Amino acid sequence: MSNITWNFSGKVVVITGSATGIGRGTALQFAKAGANLALCDFNFEEVSRTAEKCRALTSGKVKAYKMDVTNVDEIAAAKAEIVKDFGTVDVLFSNAGVSPKVMGPPISRIPISDWERTYQVNTLGMVKVCNAFCEIFKEKKAGKIIITSSAAAWKISPLVAPYGASKIAVVNFAQALSMEMGEYNTNVNVICPGFVYTNIYSDGTALKYKDILGGALNQYNDNESVMNYMASATSSLHRPQSVDDMAYTVMFLASEEASEITGSAFNVDSGYIKKI
Ligand SMILES: NC(=O)c1ccc[n+]([C@@H]2O[C@H](COP(=O)([O-])OP(=O)(O)OC[C@H]3O[C@@H](n4cnc5c(N)ncnc54)[C@H](O)[C@@H]3O)[C@@H](O)[C@H]2O)c1
Repeated sequence: MSNITWNFSGKVVVITGSATGIGRGTALQFAKAGANLALCDFNFEEVSRTAEKCRALTSGKVKAYKMDVTNVDEIAAAKAEIVKDFGTVDVLFSNAGVSPKVMGPPISRIPISDWERTYQVNTLGMVKVCNAFCEIFKEKKAGKIIITSSAAAWKISPLVAPYGASKIAVVNFAQALSMEMGEYNTNVNVICPGFVYTNIYSDGTALKYKDILGGALNQYNDNESVMNYMASATSSLHRPQSVDDMAYTVMFLASEEASEITGSAFNVDSGYIKKI
């Protein structure tokens, strides 16, 4: 629950990966703040559900778009439709991401196909989406881009090597992009979530950590408890974060109040990276 009254009425916000998790949570908060929303995901059924929930919260326009961030043609088609429907874009939250299906160590156990899929979505997907929408920001000489990386960008681990590598690449990309986009009055920043209980953990990933790490995790038998324990054991504040914690940071970075912040990466991780 935020004590800040955000106002994004009249603004057009594009969010990728908004079918579930952090993307959906952020869409709902932007809707409460009156934004117009273009919600993109390759899971059209679920992103349409997010759109429906948002419509109940905003008087702004809300529409769902099918967009696979690995596919430049789908990105171009969705962008063209968004511009036709909304006239412009003010904020891009490039957030779609996946985690590898197989964990190390050894790293050689992780199939190359897993590396490829992780890079295709988490790294090249961000590049492809930003390339497309930057054209709009360059033309209007205004814009806000927020990209989702991860605490795993900084916490080097053979457990999730493809994920960490794909996420540190995105920080470097975002910072380079911020240098280019400064000339066009466009801010580019990054959020690095720590532990947020979404599909990325509930799909069995948390229990895979338990299988590999064992120890104190053996007392837990479900994905959420395992993730909560990992968050509480490793962070300064001893707790996980919520999708709303991510949404509030994204909204701040999308606001005029953050106009002088660009090329920065924010750990929203209850102190995880500082503690390890
Ligand atoms: N949950 C966490 O603790 C955590 C921590 C660090 C970083 N992240 C990052 O946060 C972002 C959101 O993840 P989440 O935790 O909400 O998980 P999630 O699985 O709920 O959300 C990921 C979203 O991305 C979409 N997506 C996946 N591949 C796509 C593709 N090719 N094209 C379009 N959409 C696609 C999914 O459909 C889903 O809506 C991801 O980039 C993830 O890496 C999450």
